[in-house]
This record gives sequence, C-alpha cells and structure tokens, in this order.
Amino acid sequence: MSEVKGKILFTKEQIEARAAELGAQISKDYEGEEVYIVGTLRGAVMWMADMMKYITNDAEIDFMMASSYGSGTTTSGVVKVKKDLEGDIYNKNVIIIEDIVDTGTTLKHLKAYLADRNPKSIKICTMLDKPSRRLVDLKADYVGFEIDNLFVIGYGLDYDQKYRNLPYISYLEG
Ligand code: IMP
Ligand code: MG
Repeated sequence: MSEVKGKILFTKEQIEARAAELGAQISKDYEGEEVYIVGTLRGAVMWMADMMKYITNDAEIDFMMASSYGSGTTTSGVVKVKKDLEGDIYNKNVIIIEDIVDTGTTLKHLKAYLADRNPKSIKICTMLDKPSRRLVDLKADYVGFEIDNLFVIGYGLDYDQKYRNLPYISYLEG
C-alpha cells in the first residue's frame, strides 16, 4: 500500500455512491429520451466512468478537451478547445460531464460553444463544485459535491498532471 497523498475529502465509495444517486436522477429526468454524454478530458474520466454505469437511457459518449489552465493552480481566463467532439449533437440531449467547476470560465465557454450547434438540450454534471470561486455566471445542473476553496487532487484531478490516478479526492495542505 502506498501512503495517502494529502488529506482525504471523499473516498472512492462515497464518490461511487453519489454517482449512483445522480445517475438515477438523470435517468429519470431524461426518461424515454436518448442522451449524448460528453466527458471533458482529462479530469472527468473516472467520474464519467462511474456516472455512465448508472445512466440507463440509450446513450452515446464522446469527449472534448478544453483548457483554461496552464500548469500550476492559477487560471489564465483563456479557453482553448484542444479536441472537439467526434459526433454531431444537433437535436440531441447533451450532458457535459466535468471534473470540477472552479471559476466557471471553462464550462461557460464550452457550453456556449456546443449550444451553437443547436442540441435539443444541454446540461452540466460536475463531480465537484467550488461556488465560492466563481468569476462568471455558470450553474451546474447536477453536482456531486460542493467543496470549499481548496485545491484538490485525485479521481481524475491533477496537480501539474500528477495524481489523476488516486482512487480518492484529497487536498494538498499549503
Ligand atoms: P474553471 O474554468 O476555473 O472553472 O476551471 C476548471 C478547470 O480547472 C477544471 O476542469 C480543472 O481542470 C481545473 N481545476 C480547478 N480547480 C481545481 C482543483 O482544485 N484541482 C485540480 N484542478 C482544478
Ligand atoms: Mg478539467
């Protein structure tokens, strides 16, 4: 066993249980409809894998990569789409699966970018939300957990591209 990195906020079991709850909620909200699940690379992959298992609707999955961060922990405010969707979302129910909403800059941009293609609907499901850090008007429709202003790692989240593989969410004490 390797030692725990940082202070644990949420265990794998807690995260999976929350994914099951939100997945059930989404399945109900979109009953009788197909959904188009868009995961944001790279941070959302673990959470997306959990969520997908609990969404019972017919579903397509796709990925996007956008970035507003360089390396380190401060945002540049500039959002670049580095990898676009493979599929067409016209008239589809898009659900963006994100790791964390911090300032909101990235998702506000991504949502507008995808809305331009006239999907039937577009919603956001984020594993974590840091509402106290918001700089733009952006609300996630489904939130795993709200957290305080902490820099978190693990379960997909990185610090300088490391720690994404930790099977829990923890924070680094500064
Ligand atoms: P936003 O555009 O400021 O909302 O930032 C969103 C992105 O910043 C997320 O998708 C993460 O990649 C990154 N980010 C924000 N807060 C954290 C954190 O606490 N740990 C790791 N990455 C973070
Ligand atoms: Mg991200």
